[in-house]
Amino acid sequence: MSPFQLTRTLPEDATDTALRADVLNGLPQSLKTLPPKWFYDARGSALFEQITALDEYYPTRAEREILLARADEIASVTGARTLIELGSGSSDKTRHLLDELPDLDMYVPVDVSESALVQAGRALAAERPALRVHGQIVDFTTGLLLPPTQGPRLVAFLGGTLGNLLPAERAVFLSSVREFLEPGDALLLGVDLVKDESVLLAAYDDAAGVTAEFNKNVLSVINRELGADFNTDAFVHVAWWDATNEWIEMRLRSRKAQTVKVPVLDLAVDFAAGEEMRTEISAKFRPSGLAAELAAVDLQLEHWWTDSLQRYGLALATPVTAHPRPSRSSAAGSELP
Ligand code: SAH
Ligand code: AVI
Repeated sequence: MSPFQLTRTLPEDATDTALRADVLNGLPQSLKTLPPKWFYDARGSALFEQITALDEYYPTRAEREILLARADEIASVTGARTLIELGSGSSDKTRHLLDELPDLDMYVPVDVSESALVQAGRALAAERPALRVHGQIVDFTTGLLLPPTQGPRLVAFLGGTLGNLLPAERAVFLSSVREFLEPGDALLLGVDLVKDESVLLAAYDDAAGVTAEFNKNVLSVINRELGADFNTDAFVHVAWWDATNEWIEMRLRSRKAQTVKVPVLDLAVDFAAGEEMRTEISAKFRPSGLAAELAAVDLQLEHWWTDSLQRYGLALATPVTAHPRPSRSSAAGSELP
């Protein structure tokens, strides 16, 4: 049996249904919005990988620096047998953790992007034939319905993806992570930190225009999946710093007055010239704020590490109270083989 397996917990058409609902809910609002998870088809995932190599986009390098320096400490503190990674993407930086976890029995990458999971899984199977990899196509915002695994578990959520959730969504998500953790398990959470506005704006509006392509890719996804007629050239990439909420907001601004049709939803959406649609927030954190968000869901910050330039933070958090969560056997099937 191949050491790499891929499981889709949700029915095949669940993605389509969710995209339809998000378009139907998000486009008729006064501020049109689309959730950022729809960026990541095969092209979007590849564009994100290109972003991570850009000079302006520091978070990936900063997080890699911390992981390289701290992976052995993370291994000895957690003693993890199972590494579950949410929004795993290419699993590239994760290799620094895999290198250092001596008792690791299984790696469970979790992502909505099937193409990212397949690519990462194949590469890992070739590189590390002894490692059991069980990918899960799951939307981590809809509750963590994952098959039972051996503890202690380390749940990693890297790359700053927590910042792509709105504060209320973050609270629900973190609470579902806490619910998932049993005594002895831990959460490893990477977050980008508040910093100079010019550094942030450059990271989200790079000179080569890769982030602009990534942003517009969501329109191509909706065209392909729902037969919409977005003209990607009729929109401009916008990134701005919301100093009140301390987040970067990515938007797409309509170059002209236009109507976009989404026939399968029987929907026609009017854009005024200059009207903007929000496609992503990327919240930046302060240690005290993060600790408070964790404490609110019964998690305590055990360790906090930053890179040498203090641009990025990695938190290791554990459950405060000892109550175990309800038995997993009823959640999503039997224990992974
Ligand atoms: N962790 C990687 C990738 C970050 S890109 C890194 O640090 O580089 C964000 C990843 O999260 C993408 O692979 C995307 O497909 C995934 N993702 C975004 N929203 C998701 C959701 N709601 N559920 C599961 N995966 C999601
Ligand atoms: C995946 N996520 C943390 C990235 C970020 O920085 O918010 C996505 C991204 N958006 C634009 N560039 C990268």
